[in-house]
Amino acid sequence: MRKPLMAGNWKMNKTISEAIDFTKALKSLVADVSDVEILICPAFTSLSAVYNEIKGGNIKLGAQNLFWENKGAFTGEVSPVMIKDSGCSYVLIGHSERRQYFGETDEKVNKKTKAAFSAGLIPIVCVGETLDEREKNETLKVIETQIKNGLAGLDAEQSRTVVIAYEPVWAIGTGKTATPEQAQEVHNFARKIYSQMYKDSAEKIRILYGGSVKPDNISTLMQKPDIDGGLVGGASLESDSFAKLVKYSK
Ligand code: 13P
Repeated sequence: MRKPLMAGNWKMNKTISEAIDFTKALKSLVADVSDVEILICPAFTSLSAVYNEIKGGNIKLGAQNLFWENKGAFTGEVSPVMIKDSGCSYVLIGHSERRQYFGETDEKVNKKTKAAFSAGLIPIVCVGETLDEREKNETLKVIETQIKNGLAGLDAEQSRTVVIAYEPVWAIGTGKTATPEQAQEVHNFARKIYSQMYKDSAEKIRILYGGSVKPDNISTLMQKPDIDGGLVGGASLESDSFAKLVKYSK
């Protein structure tokens, strides 16, 4: 049984005080939840403050990016060890916005994934096709390449622990969700590709869907057998709507 994971990616939103206010509100809204793993991914500047609010509870903390070196002359970067030290247990890697605006390649995604593991963080590796790629019928090829290159070379334990997030770029922030059937097709394919790499781990790993996930579409998505949770942008910024997503089955 894969435990569902509902993850909020705040992207470049919220000051420290806004992050604290959100977290206090969310804490009480989801205090009774134990059947879904709850994760919020604030900006780096808010990580420690949010961690102070959530530690010991049922909400986990993640960062949105990392650099693969643990220290050194890399101005502006944040290391896996620093992220772990600020209370995180997860980190997003290779989000399409990082690929699109900051030159993140599959090779960098792979280095970051391994670096996350070596600091004791669980990487959530994002994959997904652009609209152009979908229209050219290249979706599955893109997903296969991103998974094979981004997730190469994991050891057995890592291969069971990693999380994949399928986020079609055309569905991010557009209000255009993939249909549950479209998402399931890609999730199932992703698991198949992963099983070619790590045979015994493919049924264990969680594959999240992201792209205009909202309280009114989450439950049909979650009914699909290969969809194990959500990676949510816009609808994770308000505590009420994120709590509804966490409680999608209630
Ligand atoms: P939206 O939920 O705003 O479409 O964003 C999805 C996303 O990119 C989460 O990482």
